[in-house]
Amino acid sequence: MGQFWTKIFKHKDVRILLLGLDGAGKTTLLYRLKLGEVVTHIPTIGFNVEQLTYKNITFTAWDIGARDKMRPLFRHYYKGTDAVVMVIDSSDRERLDELYCDVLKPALHAEELANSVFLFLVNKKDLPDTMNKDEVSIKLNLHSVKHVWNIIETSAIQGDGLTDCMDWLATQLGSSSSSAKKPTSHALRRTSSDTSPSHCDKPTEIKDKSAHKDYCTRAYMLLMLLHSASVPPVLR
Ligand code: GTP
Ligand code: MG
Repeated sequence: MGQFWTKIFKHKDVRILLLGLDGAGKTTLLYRLKLGEVVTHIPTIGFNVEQLTYKNITFTAWDIGARDKMRPLFRHYYKGTDAVVMVIDSSDRERLDELYCDVLKPALHAEELANSVFLFLVNKKDLPDTMNKDEVSIKLNLHSVKHVWNIIETSAIQGDGLTDCMDWLATQLGSSSSSAKKPTSHALRRTSSDTSPSHCDKPTEIKDKSAHKDYCTRAYMLLMLLHSASVPPVLR
């Protein structure tokens, strides 16, 4: 077979890491992709690993259980990861901070994941009153992410959005020959302004609101002071 055809039909192996909070739908997604059906699960203790083949690429997908005690162990699974698939429960606004601090921020700052692409799944979109991808992007401050990334709305239960996910991953990872692909999609590439991995601040969007409130309080107090200073003492 000529070099051209060898290249076209060459099989490729890539490593995918499924991350997210407990209950986000990682295991449901994994087995929906693997078996094409919804399998009932108990929370994952440890991990599941499965191989899926799509468009001549074999994806080895690692699904890591995310209950509290598991989270410090995530970093042991980072090495060699081509793509991080971050599964987010779109019906759970309350735990976005927890997701950011415990899962997203450590992953974004990890040296081992510096060349990995990030796919954010806004999952459980079949439920009512869920966040859309714009809301999640703003609340998690995704515009400051320096990796190549994308965000897709999904329902692991119904299968919605999953083909788009696999297509995007295949496009991003299919052509590279190294295990950790260098970013190529400049359209989605961003420069990170966040350089403090050692502690967790809230995402900028949430931080900004409290900073704004603080600023307003201080401005109001200053006005009151100026006002009282401008009134002649005899009239006070
Ligand atoms: P851990 O193993 O604890 O880290 O959680 P996980 O992320 O693997 O979550 P899991 O796949 O076990 O799903 C948790 C619950 O969410 C289960 O009851 C799933 O049926 C449900 N679930 C997962 N995906 C969806 C979805 O797209 N829509 C709806 N409505 N429910 C979902
Ligand atoms: Mg699980």
